[in-house]
Amino acid sequence: MDKLIIEGGQPLTGDVTISGAKNATLPMLAATLLTDERCVIRNVPRVTDVMTMLKILRMLDVKASLEHHEVIVEAGRSKKHVAPYRLVSTMRASVCVLGPLLAKTGKARVSLPGGCVIGPRPIDLHLKGLAALGAKLSMEHGDVIAEAKRLKGARIYLGGAFGSSVLATVNVMMAATLAEGQTIIENAACEPEVVDLANCLVKMGAKIRGQKTHVIEVEGVKRLQGVDYTVIPDRIEAGTLMIAAAMTGGDVTLQHTRYEDLGAVIDRLTAAGVGVEERNGSVRVRGTRTIRSVDATTLPYPGFPTDLQAQMMALMTVSDGLSVITEKVYPERFMHIAELNRMGAAIMLEGASAIIKGVPRLSGAPVMASDLRASAALVLAGLVAKKRTDISRVYHLDRGYERLEEKLERLGVRIRREREE
Ligand code: EPZ
Repeated sequence: MDKLIIEGGQPLTGDVTISGAKNATLPMLAATLLTDERCVIRNVPRVTDVMTMLKILRMLDVKASLEHHEVIVEAGRSKKHVAPYRLVSTMRASVCVLGPLLAKTGKARVSLPGGCVIGPRPIDLHLKGLAALGAKLSMEHGDVIAEAKRLKGARIYLGGAFGSSVLATVNVMMAATLAEGQTIIENAACEPEVVDLANCLVKMGAKIRGQKTHVIEVEGVKRLQGVDYTVIPDRIEAGTLMIAAAMTGGDVTLQHTRYEDLGAVIDRLTAAGVGVEERNGSVRVRGTRTIRSVDATTLPYPGFPTDLQAQMMALMTVSDGLSVITEKVYPERFMHIAELNRMGAAIMLEGASAIIKGVPRLSGAPVMASDLRASAALVLAGLVAKKRTDISRVYHLDRGYERLEEKLERLGVRIRREREE
């Protein structure tokens, strides 16, 4: 296992190029199961989750290769329909092969994703949607088995106790592209990654409307063709680096960044006194000496993204007062609090709200990553902490950030990766 070693105190300055969006890439790779033709997906981030999804495609008898940042998939006719536990259990997002496999082959067997440190990860909405399209569902030995001769379009309300669901929307939308007739998905997720997937499916010949809204309409077609598609930039990586620039009082221009995907984050950063300006296709962020404490609440898009909650908390640990961060998507997503407090932060948890009292400076310490975005928050804290911070188990970070330490080093950070003994 690797660890990252950071000597804090340097302001970030310069330019950085944001990688392609992991959470658009994963469902797009699953979407290649919907066709027998060749697909090329470009601007793919080289992160562990993408490698896992490629392994799952290969387990399904699909020829998939990654060259630089392009995935080439020769789907081919014969497809297995079982996504095994040993892979699904490492990445919950694998559940999004369920919809395309069922629609294309009439059968899918996917191991039920377990929970993870950010909380239980149920798939009841996925199953509700597929059942509404006519799938026969059963459970066996921890797997969900879905079967259907031909899926039939339906009107489906897909909202749950926490609002819309990204991957449930993704699964049902993909299955609906080959169903007979019209499907209407109400309370659909409208995250930019869902919109990007819909645009990719349309390029494959799917008939989809409303993908930027909470009501998505799909008119089923007989077959989909291959596609050559370029993934949008990763707004969560962009938000993470914007917060890094803000925390260190730096001046960073993020290339390949879509200002329009970051409304809620820009709102909170400007309220905290950070300078954010849009420049054609890039975003410039200038930190300030004093970071004003602000509150934030995570919500489905266009609300503040839960995937930036930990990073925003890291920023607030060095703000000038009290802030409250409330998590309404994954109420247990607070593994980062204990580790940030080890670095001298003053955070208290009250139910699903964290109360953060800003401190003048954090102090470097050995800390442990627990999940993808919590590890990003620890990196951010290390950037401003006094002396040295060692972050172990960075495989969590590698799941969703491509060569983050190289990007930070180029921005002036003293950071290195070491193999852990
Ligand atoms: C996607 O996960 C993202 N992953 C997550 O990013 C992200 O945190 C999440 O959306 C929310 O934005 C990918 O896109 C690969 P949800 P997903 O279904 O689709 C509940 C990262 O760091 N729910 O939108 O699994 C669920 O428990 C990852 O990149 C049900 O109750 O999330 C949660 O409380 C972490 N029943 C809420 O909905 C269901 O059937 C939103 O979850 C499905 C979800």
